[in-house]
Amino acid sequence: MNTFEFDDLKSPIIQAPMAGGVNTPELASAVANFGGVGSFGFAYTTPENIEKSLLSTKKLTSGHINANFFVFKDIKLPNKNIQNTCIEALTSLPFNEGVEFTVPSFPFFPSLNDQLGPIWESRPSILTFHLGVPDLCIIEKAKSLGIKVGITATSEAEAIIVANAGADFIVAQGIEAGGHRGVFNLESEDHQLTLENLLLKLRRTVSLPLVAAGGLMDGADIRRVMSLGASAAQLGTAFLCCPEAGTSAVHKHYLLNSHDRKTEITQAFSGRPARGIDNTFIHLMKNKPTLPFPAQNSLTAHLRKTAQDTSSGEFVSHWAGQNFKKIRPLPCLQVLQLLKTELERP
Ligand SMILES: Cc1cc2nc3c(=O)[nH]c(=O)nc-3n(C[C@H](O)[C@H](O)[C@H](O)COP(=O)(O)O)c2cc1C
Repeated sequence: MNTFEFDDLKSPIIQAPMAGGVNTPELASAVANFGGVGSFGFAYTTPENIEKSLLSTKKLTSGHINANFFVFKDIKLPNKNIQNTCIEALTSLPFNEGVEFTVPSFPFFPSLNDQLGPIWESRPSILTFHLGVPDLCIIEKAKSLGIKVGITATSEAEAIIVANAGADFIVAQGIEAGGHRGVFNLESEDHQLTLENLLLKLRRTVSLPLVAAGGLMDGADIRRVMSLGASAAQLGTAFLCCPEAGTSAVHKHYLLNSHDRKTEITQAFSGRPARGIDNTFIHLMKNKPTLPFPAQNSLTAHLRKTAQDTSSGEFVSHWAGQNFKKIRPLPCLQVLQLLKTELERP
């Protein structure tokens, strides 16, 4: 296996893990072959499909691949009254014809141990975790196999927990980032640090390498975070409109044509704060009750699928970072070449 070291990267770019069908072998291998890191967000993926994706990718690249997982926590559903209020909130939406809302049942998320089976076999160079720290034996096992482990942190307190858990690096996620915010505990106060402030704070607090994530769209952005002490930059939104990405047509349409809209952080789709392009669903669900993550994700699944199938982008999540208007809808290699030229510009 190809042991991963930040210093050996030809390009300090990590294509972000993006669960929900965006990551593909074609996208990940294009970035890995360029000398960066290609990623897969396997949050809800079955072990069989994880194995398939990694095998297909191995045929396209011998470069660095990152397999990423959510750290789900056991949840208890609230009492029947609250469940019914959550269903009523969704049923009251204008777009609900033919949509059934049923309270999701256990298990709400896949078993991480089962999902990791193909990882121990295939051994990608990097394993990363989002939304918390996994069991320490998982980190130890990865390291014993030569797999580097990274964990997202959004604050100094989380970064210290990550360092004490024995991770190899920290993915510092600023408030600008698209998709789910990596906060560990929804009960604690979220200081919503910008990427720049987070990097400055973490550089003083921990000695682990930092990967900067959140709102980075061009080479000048990458240069700026590297000058603040980041070892690499993780870009998600910048790759969403590449033809190699599995982003849905309606998501791409919103990303390229919503120049009159902003992004919002909402819990309404999944039960956890995540940043996406503002739409009717986010607007109508403001201050409405939601089930705990990820039960709310299951509860809204049918609605999102129906909306997706009928191209009603107003009721689907369009995860995107704050700077989505700077997306370049180009083949991945061209995006990477532009990033390189801009990064090297004096
Ligand atoms: C569509 C989408 C899905 C995402 N899914 C994941 C995920 O599965 N795991 C993860 O660690 N981060 C996920 N993220 C967050 C990214 O890792 C990263 O923090 C973010 O993309 C950086 O901000 P940017 O989108 O402005 O580049 C996702 C982001 C987006 C846009």
